[in-house]
Amino acid sequence: MEVTDAAIRILAGLLEARTGQQLAISRRWRIETALKSLMRERGFDSLDQLLGDIVSGREPALSDAVVDALLNNETYFYRDRQPFELLMIGAFTALQKARAREKRLSIWCAGCSTGQEAYSIAMTIADEKERWDGWTVDIVATDVSRGAIAQARNGLYSQFEVQRGLPVVQMIRHFAAEGEGQWRLNEAIRGKVRFKTQSLMDAPPAPGRFDVILCRNVLLYFHAAARSAVFDRLSQAIAHDGYLMLGAGETVIGQSDAFVSSTEFRGIYSPTSRRTTVPASSAA
Ligand SMILES: C[S@@+](CC[C@H](N)C(=O)[O-])C[C@H]1O[C@@H](n2cnc3c(N)ncnc32)[C@H](O)[C@@H]1O
Repeated sequence: MEVTDAAIRILAGLLEARTGQQLAISRRWRIETALKSLMRERGFDSLDQLLGDIVSGREPALSDAVVDALLNNETYFYRDRQPFELLMIGAFTALQKARAREKRLSIWCAGCSTGQEAYSIAMTIADEKERWDGWTVDIVATDVSRGAIAQARNGLYSQFEVQRGLPVVQMIRHFAAEGEGQWRLNEAIRGKVRFKTQSLMDAPPAPGRFDVILCRNVLLYFHAAARSAVFDRLSQAIAHDGYLMLGAGETVIGQSDAFVSSTEFRGIYSPTSRRTTVPASSAA
């Protein structure tokens, strides 16, 4: 497949407009790999033909499929176990104290891919029955990729996917074998997560009330200005004492003033407003 600089520019423009992600010319090989099977399935002989159809706007679903194919959906259960545990043990304990009266927590997995991140949280909470007795934990998970969200909702994973990061005990407890080499997550856990196709370039799902936002391994390829705008949007969607978790190796430092490193938990971020908000009890 010939991938010209002009073709890359068109694809890069489409991807950035829809998702904020940048596509560098040096990633020519990635475009070839990503679009090969889509072109075969839809009977395109050349990339120029495909781009011609996109530019003409004859088939709007085609550009959705191209954007989906270009996105990196890499994820797995309990990714980066250590920071994940810090969240589940440290940050959740602090929030359980702070919300002891209402016994309600809201979590947003932004850029959730095929669902493993959100389901890892849901399974952990289900397994810690005593700790979460009487609590309502609302988990919302969003991604710009329709394909990823469709798989996430289905909760159907290949043998390879369930073997990545998921302890066997949990696999046996929460999944059932289905068809050849496929595993379906039980309805009880699937029902705990609300999935939605949504871009981080748009308004957040429920502004001003998430106690925890995970936005891990999503903003790496964003243009600096788009990344900073996303951090601003996330800061509007998080509770003043909430926590933001990014991927290992990602940071807000030098990228945004909307969040600062948490003073309690390394690698987790607090909204800057936490420093300036006077708690209700001391406001009088
Ligand atoms: C590498 S995956 C990370 C998944 C998961 N958070 C993790 O760490 O395992 C990045 C995800 O971000 C999604 N994504 C990229 N740009 C996005 C945007 N503008 N809005 C929402 N999701 C986006 C991609 O579709 C992809 O599923």
